[in-house]
Amino acid sequence: MTALPDGISRMVDLPSDELADNWEHLVLPPGLKERLVNHAVFSLLHRGKLSATRTALQGLLLFAGPPGTGKTTAARGLAQAVAVALADEGATAYVEVDPHALPSELLGESQRRTARLLDRTLPEVAAKHRFTVVLVDEVEAFAASRQLASFDANPVDVHRATDAVLTGLDLLSAAHPQVLFLATTNVPDAVDEALVSRADLVVSFRAPTREQAAAIIEDTLAELARSWPALEPLSRDTSALRMVGDRCAGMDGRRIRKVVLAAVTARQQTSRDPSSLTVDDLLTAAGELAATEQEGPLMPAGGGPRATGSPTGLPSP
Ligand SMILES: Nc1ncnc2c1ncn2[C@@H]1O[C@H](COP(=O)(O)OP(=O)(O)OP(=O)(O)O)[C@@H](O)[C@H]1O
Ligand SMILES: [Mg+2]
Repeated sequence: MTALPDGISRMVDLPSDELADNWEHLVLPPGLKERLVNHAVFSLLHRGKLSATRTALQGLLLFAGPPGTGKTTAARGLAQAVAVALADEGATAYVEVDPHALPSELLGESQRRTARLLDRTLPEVAAKHRFTVVLVDEVEAFAASRQLASFDANPVDVHRATDAVLTGLDLLSAAHPQVLFLATTNVPDAVDEALVSRADLVVSFRAPTREQAAAIIEDTLAELARSWPALEPLSRDTSALRMVGDRCAGMDGRRIRKVVLAAVTARQQTSRDPSSLTVDDLLTAAGELAATEQEGPLMPAGGGPRATGSPTGLPSP
């Protein structure tokens, strides 16, 4: 296996089996997936024809929201979906930036690493492919807010590194309109305002609604049913799923998937063979996890992911 360039944690050609699962199994509000694909397709196909000054298009989508609400899964899934949609036009490269590999204790080193990534590494990838999708997961580590930079975090370096990100992004975006950046954050306040302002679309991810929770339980059970077919009837029992979904109110998507695991492992028999899992097992597990949630920090409930509008004035889905 060849070593990846500094600051990059994954690089694959799309469509890829590695990313195949993400999109299909993600439960988002009706229409949002299609809207995201349309946005990405438009950006990759047409941004180069349009004046950046007159459209303010940057080729950057930002997914913001609490942990476990599907932001990273959505970004990976969208990359794959857009590559499939554009397959007739040419190949798509997919790159994941590791923002944590860039900061350094050495003054000026973060800035140099960031500049190298944006001025050299990514343009080299972009030059070899028709389209490139770049995921910057946890972008707050990459473009830390200069306003919030505290003195013990070496503020001079935060300023320089964030300035380098913004300058590098602007140059890359202008020179390579066939690059689309997807960024995620669960601490939007820690992301530099100038980066948020550059996003063509900001999508706010929320904890799933009860109906979406039921769909996530259904999908998780369906995955188990591939190995234990006796679970198929339960995975299709809409009234059982609805009851469990109701009990998951307020939980994030990650926690909801874990309800199924908690239910399976609550009894010795189901741990060894989940075939005899019942709706009562699921309801008990969901109730227990919901109670733990209430003791800890609560996620904002309801609504599911939704777009909150965009600096370019594109309507929210
Ligand atoms: N809306 C959803 N539909 C289906 N599955 C979901 C949803 N939200 C979260 N999940 C599941 O929860 C897990 C975590 O999702 P993901 O890593 O995308 O969350 P995240 O928002 O990026 O979290 P973090 O902020 O902690 O990085 C995945 O297994 C994913 O399948
Ligand atoms: Mg994530």
